[in-house]
Amino acid sequence: MKPSIGIIGLGYVGLPLALALAEKHTVLGYDTNKERVASLQRGVDNTQEIPTEEIQAVSIQFFDQPQALKQCSIYIVTVPTPLKEDNLPDFSYLESASTVIAQLLKKGDIVVYESTVYPGATEEICLPLLEAFSLKVDIDFSLGYSPERINVGDPHNTFKTIPKIVSASNKDALDTLYILYQSVLSAEVYKAPSIKVAEAAKVIENTQRDVNIAFVNELAMMFNAMGLDTNEVLAAASTKWNFLPFCPGLVGGHCIGIDPYYLAHQSQALGYTPELLLSARKINEALPRFIVKDILIKLETHQIDKTKAKVLLLGATFKENTADIRNSKAITLAQELQEEGLHLTLFDPYLIKNNPLTTSLALTSSLSKTEKFDVIILAVGHDQFATIDPLKSLTDKGFGYDIKAYFDAHPRIYRL
Ligand SMILES: NC(=O)c1ccc[n+]([C@@H]2O[C@H](COP(=O)([O-])OP(=O)(O)OC[C@H]3O[C@@H](n4cnc5c(N)ncnc54)[C@H](O)[C@@H]3O)[C@@H](O)[C@H]2O)c1
Repeated sequence: MKPSIGIIGLGYVGLPLALALAEKHTVLGYDTNKERVASLQRGVDNTQEIPTEEIQAVSIQFFDQPQALKQCSIYIVTVPTPLKEDNLPDFSYLESASTVIAQLLKKGDIVVYESTVYPGATEEICLPLLEAFSLKVDIDFSLGYSPERINVGDPHNTFKTIPKIVSASNKDALDTLYILYQSVLSAEVYKAPSIKVAEAAKVIENTQRDVNIAFVNELAMMFNAMGLDTNEVLAAASTKWNFLPFCPGLVGGHCIGIDPYYLAHQSQALGYTPELLLSARKINEALPRFIVKDILIKLETHQIDKTKAKVLLLGATFKENTADIRNSKAITLAQELQEEGLHLTLFDPYLIKNNPLTTSLALTSSLSKTEKFDVIILAVGHDQFATIDPLKSLTDKGFGYDIKAYFDAHPRIYRL
């Protein structure tokens, strides 16, 4: 008989995974968020990532209670791994999911974790909770880890087309998971030699990105003082065959701005403080403040009274073409601009208006063609902004501030 697969956590990672697996297997989805489950049962993904036709195209059941998953023999965990205060890993979601699975676990089952953690966390934190009721790993059940690399808001790199790493506590489970993921992926499935290697591989992918973006962000801060356009410098340097193509910008979201802290935490606990990684975090976290200061200087240069300035901020999500605002530095930027006394209007076509994080910000649902602003800041490069011509919406003294080098270069539009 084919295995039934239980997906625990139906968010940005869990839902596409569940839908892909459901094309070939029996899949049951479980999430603690009752509203999320109710909307998925109606075929609605409130993260705006997956259209209703795709959800309704497969046979899948969604539950807000875990008991229904008792018939499953493979459990895949895709719950959040955010940070607590002081940037410490928050394992509470993984812990509660593991405790729930422990109560459902039977001999022969496999439990796979996909959440991003530091090397060692799956075996040190989740496994003891799975073993709490007498079943033992590699005797009664198996443990697996397969990090997810999905890129939200990117229609070209999807669950099925991104190569997937699998790892497991024993060879049989590794082979089973390899075949399972291979059955629904068009991309390669790579067998990592251990769970720890797979955990480390995932966390360094995002850390590498964070460090590289921090480098270009630092360049942007330096070149700003030198009166150079960073994007012009990068374009020139990119003509060398091995120059890496990274662009300056705000680093937020649930992955790149979070995962390096997991790695740093474990490293520090073991006695090594990673200097480069933590410096990169510091630089990327400091960027919103740098931009605010730069905008204040430019207001003075343009003789615009900051208490009267009308400021339009384009984009509030953590990156382009997604509705995800978790850990969005565009929102940090908006809040810091407001704290400086600037009157801000925020336009983001992806933003759900009643989101609690944004109630304090003046959101507009559309842009008027005639309204003028003293400052137009582009924080996120949504494709939908392509029809906007900032020059037409600026007051005579006004200027643009294009963090993503999204608009055509122009003397009245500063770039980061
Ligand atoms: N979002 C991304 O682009 C992305 C990409 C790769 C990896 N990841 C990693 O994948 C993991 C999940 O991220 P996400 O973005 O899908 O998070 P998410 O917040 O979108 O989804 C997680 C879901 O899990 C549910 N949940 C929380 N605790 C639960 C529990 N105990 N039992 C059942 N459901 C529970 C939540 O209600 C939520 O719907 C994280 O570790 C993240 O770092 C995310």
